[in-house]
Order: sequence, then structure tokens, then C-alpha cells
Amino acid sequence: MFNRRELALAVAREFDAPAVLDVGGGSGRIGEPILDAGASRYVDIDLSDTMLDLARERLDRFGDKVELIQGDFLTADLGASFDLALALGYFDYIEDAGAHIRRIGELCSGAAVASFPRWTWTKGPIRKLRYEVINNCPIYDYTGDGISALFKNAGFTRVELHPGKSGFLAVARK
Ligand SMILES: C[S@@+](CC[C@H](N)C(=O)[O-])C[C@H]1O[C@@H](n2cnc3c(N)ncnc32)[C@H](O)[C@@H]1O
Repeated sequence: MFNRRELALAVAREFDAPAVLDVGGGSGRIGEPILDAGASRYVDIDLSDTMLDLARERLDRFGDKVELIQGDFLTADLGASFDLALALGYFDYIEDAGAHIRRIGELCSGAAVASFPRWTWTKGPIRKLRYEVINNCPIYDYTGDGISALFKNAGFTRVELHPGKSGFLAVARK
């Protein structure tokens, strides 16, 4: 089974000094190995100031290769284009995944690596109860065909899906 960090790193290594956009990158825990592996630029866009403070501490040593942007991915000004976009642990909470993947398609010229949860009868009911009933936080599930269609509609030509126990890891290429 693929590990999301290893997969993100393997795809990053396909590029020479890639510019990487981490959508909902949170505390930058994937950013650190990606920068260690030679990324020339790492932009973490996240709604949460608290997560970005953690990213600032963690990524301080990489200086001006790192940009931490607080805001909503759909509307934030993110400037130039990126070789690689990551969206890991992001689509669980996103209502209109199509709009977010289209924006990834507009900003990214190379590849995207993203994780998606899928419904399972072992974990699904507990997850729904915990997030939606107790914490009033809607969560979303995906199918393999649905994920492929989302990326194809966003201008990606090849979509590779790695199914795991509770979801999919997707690598989409332009
Ligand atoms: C489960 S965390 C995953 C963090 C990181 N990608 C990781 O794997 O460690 C999801 C992150 O997405 C961020 N997020 C959710 N909706 C967002 C949006 N519309 N724009 C930017 N960030 C968002 C949250 O603030 C949170 O930090």
C-alpha cells in the first residue's frame, strides 16, 4: 500500500527543483521532506493561522523558498504556476471538490498528488458520527471513477489511483 508522504516525494523527484503548491498544507509536514529533496519553492495555502505558525517553525531553515499564505484556496492570490500540487487530507472536508480540482488544474502545469476518503462499512459510520453528528463538520466520500472524472474535467490527462483501506491516493498528470 502506498504511503502518502512517500508517493508525494516520489512524484516530486520526477521534477528538477520543482515549485510545489501544498493545498491545505497545514503544518507543512510534507513540505519539509519535499524541500529537503530539492524543491525550489514551497507554498502552503491554509485557512488556519495556527497550522501555519507550526509550518513557520518547522520550515524556518529553508528561508525564502517557503511562502505561507493564510486564506481560502479558491480565492487566494497564488501567483505563478507550479510543477506539482499536493492536496493531502484535504478533500475529506471539501464540499465542491470539482471547483478545487479545477483551480489546481489552472495553477499546476505538471502533476497533482491528492488523497480522498472512500466509504467503508467498517470506518464509515463511526467517521460520520464523529465528524457530522458530534462536531457538526460535514465530510465527503469519493469513488475511483468520480476522482478520475474530477481530474479529467480539470485538464489532467492521466490519473493513477492507489486504493487503500480507507481511501484513494491519486496521482494526476497533465
Ligand atoms: C487534515 S488537514 C491536512 C494538512 C496537511 N495537508 C497534512 O497532510 O498534514 C486539512 C487542512 O486543510 C485546510 N483547509 C480546509 N479547507 C481549506 C480551504 N478552503 N482553503 C485552504 N485550506 C483549507 C485546513 O485548515 C487544514 O489545515
